[in-house]
Formats: sequence, structure tokens, C-alpha cells
Amino acid sequence: TRVSFEVGMQQLGGRVLTLTTRDMQLSRGETIADTARVLSRYVDGIMIRAYSHGTVEELADAADVPVINGLTDLYHPCQVMADLLTIREHKGGLAGVTVAYVGDGNNVAHSWLLGAAQFGLRLRVACPAGYEPLPEIVARAQSIARQTGAEITVLRDPVEAVMGADVIYTDVWASMGQEAEADQRRRVFAPYQVNARLVAHAAGDYIFMHCLPAH
Ligand code: NVA
Repeated sequence: TRVSFEVGMQQLGGRVLTLTTRDMQLSRGETIADTARVLSRYVDGIMIRAYSHGTVEELADAADVPVINGLTDLYHPCQVMADLLTIREHKGGLAGVTVAYVGDGNNVAHSWLLGAAQFGLRLRVACPAGYEPLPEIVARAQSIARQTGAEITVLRDPVEAVMGADVIYTDVWASMGQEAEADQRRRVFAPYQVNARLVAHAAGDYIFMHCLPAH
């Protein structure tokens, strides 16, 4: 994340300050809102990667410069924008492309729902029971899809999701902050493993994608 944002900003002619928690006063109790107000006096924009989505909203509410979400527990929008560009490069366009997202209905899945809806893709998300994307985000994606011609489906069966797909996408089974659930998640997600048997149902020229890190 840091490399892509720093290099991107520099290639576009900007300059970058990277602030880790050690470089800020947050750990001493300075509020997010004060941090946002002070930074807004000095910088033209803020990219923040945070655990909690609420932190980013709080920062954006108090900042008067643009705030870019570099990852939260709820969304990962820049990842999906980069993924859409990759798909366009490999498939020559986005219209009519079928993407199967197999696995956890997590932050990446949420951004995929909104990204696919916005850009008119056909997206099938397959998740085990109890790990589906949030219903309000699915509903929002489906309402955007009605205007853009996208098709958004959330289903259970990974084979059904992958059938004829141009892109197969997955993410880790335990995201940041879910390390303690890793063993249980490994069992729940085993039938959702993207392996040779599953991908045999995809289009002959499908591409496989993962937001990384994969482990
Ligand atoms: N779902 C993963 C994405 C990492 C880029 C996580 O939140 O850990």
C-alpha cells in the first residue's frame, strides 16, 4: 500500500509524507479530529489505512482536504479500482465481464460489490453461511446495478459462482484482526478453496486474482 501510493503520487508530480503511529500524537491521546484539522493545514490530501472504518470517517469529517481510504475493515476501494484496471488491461474492457468472488464477504468483497455495480460488470459472490457481505452493501450495489446494467448476485455454491467466469478472485480467509478465528475459518472456508477442480468450471481464458498478501 505504501509503495503504490508513494510512487503513484511522486509519478504524478506530488510529494509524500509517510506518518506511522510513531510519527503522530494519536498514541498519546490526541484525537483523530485534531489530527485531521492539523494535517489539513499542511497537506493537500490524506490517504489513511486504518483498522476501523469509523476512524476514517471521523478523519474525513474533521479534515478539510480530501481523504482517501487506503483500507479499512469495511472497504478496500483503491484495491478494487486497481483490480478493475487490471481486468480492463487483460480483457480489453469491463462491460460484460463476469467476475466470481469466492470466499469471505469482507472488506474486499464489499468494495467489489460497489465497484462491479458502478462499472457494469456481472459479479457473483459465493460465501459460506455466516460470512456473507453486509446486506445493506449488497442492496446498495444492486440499486446502483439497476442504473448501470451490472448484475450482482450473492450465492452459496462456489461452482455456480465460477461457471463460465472470466475472472476468479479470492482473498485470505482470516483478515487483519481476525487472527484468533483463523483455525475455525480454515474449516469453514475449505470448500471455498480456489483449486484446479473449482477453476475447471471457469472460462478457458479466465484470470485468477488475489488482493495479496496471500498466505
Ligand atoms: N481482507 C484483507 C485484505 C488485505 C489487503 C484484510 O483486511 O486483511
